[in-house]
Amino acid sequence: MSESGSEGEVAREVERRRTFAIISHPDAGKTTLTEKLLLYGGAVREAGAVRGQRAARHATSDWLELEQQRGISVSSSALYFDYAGKRVNILDTPGHRDFSEDTYRTLMAADSAVMLMDAAKGVEDQTRKLFQVCRLRRIPIFTFVNKMDRYGRDALDLMSEIEEILGIDAVPADWPIGAGADFRGVYDRIRQRVLLYSGGEHGTTRVDEQVIEGAIDEPQVREVLGRDYDDLAENLELIEGAGATLNPEAVRAGEQTPMFFGSALTNYAVEPFLERFLEMAPCPDGRVSDQGKIDPVAQPFSGFVFKIQANMDPDHRDRVAFLRVCSGRFAKGETTRHVRTGKSLRLMNSTLIMGNDRHEVDTAYPGDVVGLFDPGLFRIGDTVSDQGDFAYAGIPSFSPESFMRVELAAVLKRKSLEKGLAQLVQEGAVQSFQAIETSSASWILGAMGPLQFEVMRHRLKGEYRVDLQLTAMPFKLARWPQGDFDPDIFRFAERIMVVKDAQDRFAILAHNQWDLQRAIERNEGLVLSETADPELFEAAR
Ligand code: G4P
Repeated sequence: MSESGSEGEVAREVERRRTFAIISHPDAGKTTLTEKLLLYGGAVREAGAVRGQRAARHATSDWLELEQQRGISVSSSALYFDYAGKRVNILDTPGHRDFSEDTYRTLMAADSAVMLMDAAKGVEDQTRKLFQVCRLRRIPIFTFVNKMDRYGRDALDLMSEIEEILGIDAVPADWPIGAGADFRGVYDRIRQRVLLYSGGEHGTTRVDEQVIEGAIDEPQVREVLGRDYDDLAENLELIEGAGATLNPEAVRAGEQTPMFFGSALTNYAVEPFLERFLEMAPCPDGRVSDQGKIDPVAQPFSGFVFKIQANMDPDHRDRVAFLRVCSGRFAKGETTRHVRTGKSLRLMNSTLIMGNDRHEVDTAYPGDVVGLFDPGLFRIGDTVSDQGDFAYAGIPSFSPESFMRVELAAVLKRKSLEKGLAQLVQEGAVQSFQAIETSSASWILGAMGPLQFEVMRHRLKGEYRVDLQLTAMPFKLARWPQGDFDPDIFRFAERIMVVKDAQDRFAILAHNQWDLQRAIERNEGLVLSETADPELFEAAR
């Protein structure tokens, strides 16, 4: 049994932890913002370091070559830094939509989310989907409107777009002063003060900040704002008039999103965002298990696996299981339990990930992410716990959006294929289904998009020496029937196929929403869920 650490020590560490993920559409500026946050935390000295490390890592991995060729980021890790006494954990997520399932899972390990949007674009497709996952979990969501240094859309417009499209109350925590080349800073509504910025060569260093304390109608505020005053005063009055007041409880319940404005590139208004965010974002709370809520402080060490990263080194089929610590103190070298198999587990080779530098860690606390060397033991959602007598609710499977039928080029390779696929499914790299109508086993694979299939094929070939032929199928979504389900109702359906997923649950594949709607109308009592385990969202709150 590993020592749980004194309760006082764990309580102090939990209290100061903030673990979150950034959700955004590609190109909104997630990498740039992450870099700036690390800069304020002193974790990197130069902006550009995150990007640089990304490039360097490509040299170490074979299948990650694919990332480089395509200019995408497939893998994600966790970054941490300390700021104003807080330990900040950023759960990094891949930007490309084809890997968004990875992001969905990562969101199950976050305590809050930052929704980043491009001021010129507003709510984009990818953000909308990721937002829905945050919503299901009811985690607090903070909005950062980026690229204010360019001419974008009207801030009031963006506010109502968030409310209309996402159905969450958007309440400005600050308000931009000037826009585009004339973007000067923000008015901080919480502290009632003006923050003006100058200098900074594209944000490689910290910028100069001028703080003018005072409510909007005070003379010094009017004076410093000059020609920007009338515009700001009018907007603030409109916002007040609309009753947009920040309510910390509504924020914590995920009903209200505080809105911040700034420019990650020029570094304007990034630090005040970080400060306010860290004040308002929650620290780790109890997580639901099959034995009720597990208190992060009172219980000994436990956590769950939310991501498995394979093959960082092409010469070994090694994997790293990313574990979110949920309770107690993680101590390197201690023995704990892998709950699903009942095996005892020595916590060796544990790493904290900082960019792509891997540090050995000796201790970690709730909210932290630890990378564990995985000899093939872990599956997504597995619980590790000293007590070994409870399991955290797993991680839901989300509907793939693209399906392929597997053809095997050489029949003799069937065993290798089975093994390889089983492994990749366990890692969550791809979902597998079996048609219920065929007698011989035939696989249907589901993924978010073509690149995910490409990575999978690349890995099956590299690691298992199996060549696959994949034939595209016309389906675009999977749904999981809830309650009693009779597969015969779709026996003659042309545009719907009944399958079983890797855990032997019925699922149906459909061409589009319209087909689903028709199926529901024609079959009274048919309830279809977008995830295999909708109850897990309840549990993960
Ligand atoms: P992502 O991770 O969300 O995909 O976005 P990333 O940070 O890579 O930013 C995408 C592009 O947007 C980059 O430009 C970046 O410099 C720019 N950008 C990010 N934040 C801001 C901002 O606040 N203002 C402005 N004007 N631009 C911003 P790029 O030309 O694609 O790349 P690079 O050559 O600058 O690296």
